[in-house]
Amino acid sequence: MSTLASLEERALADLRSCTEEAALRAWKTRYLEGEVDQAVKKIGTLPPAERPTYGKQVNELKKKLTAEYESALAAEKERALERSLASAPLDVTLPGRPVQRGRLHVSTQTLRSIYAIFADMGFQIYRSPEVEDDETNFGLLNMPEHHPARDMWDTFHTTRPGVLLRTHTSPGQIHVMRELCPKPIRVILPGMCYRYEAITTRSEIMFHQVEGLAIGEHVTMADLKGTLIAFARRLFGDQRKVRIRSSYFPFTEPSIEVDVDCIVCAGEGCSLCKRSGWLEILGAGMVHPVVLRNGGYDPACFSGFAFGMGPERIAMLTYAIDDIRQFWANDLRFLRQFGT
Ligand code: PHE
Repeated sequence: MSTLASLEERALADLRSCTEEAALRAWKTRYLEGEVDQAVKKIGTLPPAERPTYGKQVNELKKKLTAEYESALAAEKERALERSLASAPLDVTLPGRPVQRGRLHVSTQTLRSIYAIFADMGFQIYRSPEVEDDETNFGLLNMPEHHPARDMWDTFHTTRPGVLLRTHTSPGQIHVMRELCPKPIRVILPGMCYRYEAITTRSEIMFHQVEGLAIGEHVTMADLKGTLIAFARRLFGDQRKVRIRSSYFPFTEPSIEVDVDCIVCAGEGCSLCKRSGWLEILGAGMVHPVVLRNGGYDPACFSGFAFGMGPERIAMLTYAIDDIRQFWANDLRFLRQFGT
């Protein structure tokens, strides 16, 4: 018992001499976690008759010293704050430090501009999977096995036979049609696509596309033209000239490609447009009757149009970016140039 009393005396005297937080913490290690702890452990070694009295005392000592320590620590923190306020006065009129804000990736910004334009025209966003089966990516889009058009899209196959990474967003057409048939459809399907290609300044193995699909009882080529021209003018500017060329896709008939007059030279001819005066922005066409039928729609009653565009390509045209590899290189010097 007398040891406990002298321990208490020593501990309290030492505690009073601590004038810094570090000293207080050292005190805690020495007493609370050291000597006091040892004293608590001693209970087990005492003859049973002595245990209750000793145990009670040692616990009281521990409680008391803990409380003293905590109030000494709080008081020291208070004093430290007062010292720091006194030595470096706080100027509350100073402007705050600006917060480093991130920004949206240039692809996301472009996607959002595209969404906004189509949202105004009543198109809803529909998501469809990036991992597809061969049948939906090709077969149901009117490209049976060994169809030469499959060569238009070099494919990443998975180890599961018939399972692949979609080469375009067009298989989404089948998913939407099968889900909504026989209702009319007006959707866009944005997402990532993958192609097994050499990576160059002009081609990447992954990129976004935005697919569009409209189906109804009287959807015509004029609707497609009107939609795409309105889209191109809102995205690239009112004065944009739009040119429509005939083209070929297995899943649309007739098929078209859409160009805008070059945003750099306005048609004069420059390196961006490769002297042609025109920039290709998307592929489109009237949904092929075979594809309509595969989606559950009777081509005798329904017709539709579809289009597909690449937001990275559109961003490259908009900002005159000459290397598509920049999009996924994560170079902040590149990414910081876009948006606020
Ligand atoms: N899926 C085509 C491509 O990747 C683009 C496209 C979509 C063309 C829809 C016509 C209709 O090239």
